[in-house]
Amino acid sequence: MYVLSFESSCDETACAVLEMSESARIVKSNIIASQVDTHALYGGVVPEIASRAHIEAISKITYEALDVAGVSLRDIDVIAVTNGPGLIGALLVAVNFAKSLAYANDIPLVSVDHIKGHVAGNYLTHQELKPPFLALVVSGGHTSFFDVKSYTEFEEIAGTRDDAVGECFDKIGRVMGLPYPGGAGMDRLAKEGDSLSITFPSPAISKDTLDFSFSGLKTAVINYLNTKNQRGEEIPRADVAASVTHSIVEAICSKVKGALNKTGYDKIVLAGGVSANSHIRNGIEAVCKRRGASFYAPTLDLCGDNAAMIGAQGYYEYLNGARADVDLNAYPS
Ligand code: KG4
Ligand code: ZN
Repeated sequence: MYVLSFESSCDETACAVLEMSESARIVKSNIIASQVDTHALYGGVVPEIASRAHIEAISKITYEALDVAGVSLRDIDVIAVTNGPGLIGALLVAVNFAKSLAYANDIPLVSVDHIKGHVAGNYLTHQELKPPFLALVVSGGHTSFFDVKSYTEFEEIAGTRDDAVGECFDKIGRVMGLPYPGGAGMDRLAKEGDSLSITFPSPAISKDTLDFSFSGLKTAVINYLNTKNQRGEEIPRADVAASVTHSIVEAICSKVKGALNKTGYDKIVLAGGVSANSHIRNGIEAVCKRRGASFYAPTLDLCGDNAAMIGAQGYYEYLNGARADVDLNAYPS
C-alpha cells in the first residue's frame, strides 16, 4: 500500500511516499523544505512567516516526493496529514492541501497526531518493532513518557511541568551564541567539556514522580551566563554545555528507570528532535544494557520533523479504520 504524507506543524514543510505492508515498511521518498535559515534571523520560529513559507513550498515538494518515489497520484492508496499539535496557521497549510488532494482524487484521508508520528518514525528504522512498549518523546515542545499499548492507543504517563527539553537546550544555546536552534550545537560542544565542572539544578524534581521540570535548570544556567558576562569573565562554553547535558541526561536516565519499573516493559522507544542527542542516546542505551531491556531510537534523518514518520503512523491509523473528512480541522495543543 502506498501512503502519501504531509507535515507542516512548525518550520519544516515535508512530504513523503511510503510503501507499507505487514512485512515491510519502506520509505520511497522523504522530502523536507526547511525554514531554519529564515527563522534563525529572529532566534526562533515566527508563526506568520512559517505559514507563508509552507504555502510557497508545499506543491513543489509534493511533485518532488512523487517523482523521487517513482509513483503518481493514481498509485496512492491513502493520504496522511499532521493535524496537531503545532502552530495553527502552519498546520492548516498541509491539512487543507491534503484535504483538497484527497477530495479531488478520491483518495482516503487520515489525520495524524504529530507526537504519535515521532514515535512511528521508529517503525521505519526498526522493521521488527511493534507495540506495546514505553516511549519517551523529547522535542522542542514535548518531554513525555507514553505507554504505547497498540499502534494507535497511547497513554501519557508523565511529562514536563513547564519547558520542554528542546526548548531548554535552545534557550541556553541562544544565550551562548550558538546557531539556532541550539540543540545540535550544545550536543557537539558538550563532547569537548568537563561534565562535572559546574553543578546545575536537576530537571528530575523528586523521586515521587516521573515528571520533569526544565525551567529551573534553564534559569540557573542563563543566570550563570549573565553573571559571567557582567563580570567580564570568560565563559567556559564547552564546560557549561557538558554540565547542562550531564544534568539533563542524569535526570532522563533516572526517570527512564522509574518508567520501566512502573510499566513493567523491557522495551523503550526514544523519539522527537532531541532524540538525535548523542549523550541522551548513549545514557538510555547504557541503562537498558544494564537491565537487559531493549532500546530503540530513529536514524538521525528521522529524528527531527519529517513526513515519513507521519506516513508510518497514518498507515496504522488507516488499518485501524480511522478516516478524515473534508471538515478535518487542525488543533494547536
Ligand atoms: O521534533 P522537533 O524537530 O520539533 C518539534 O516537534 O519540536 O524537535 C526540535 C528540537 C529543537 O529544540 C532542536 O534544538 C532539538 O530538537 N535538537 C537537538 C538535537 N538536534 C535537534 N537537541 C539536542 N541535541 C541534538 N543533537
Ligand atoms: Zn516534532
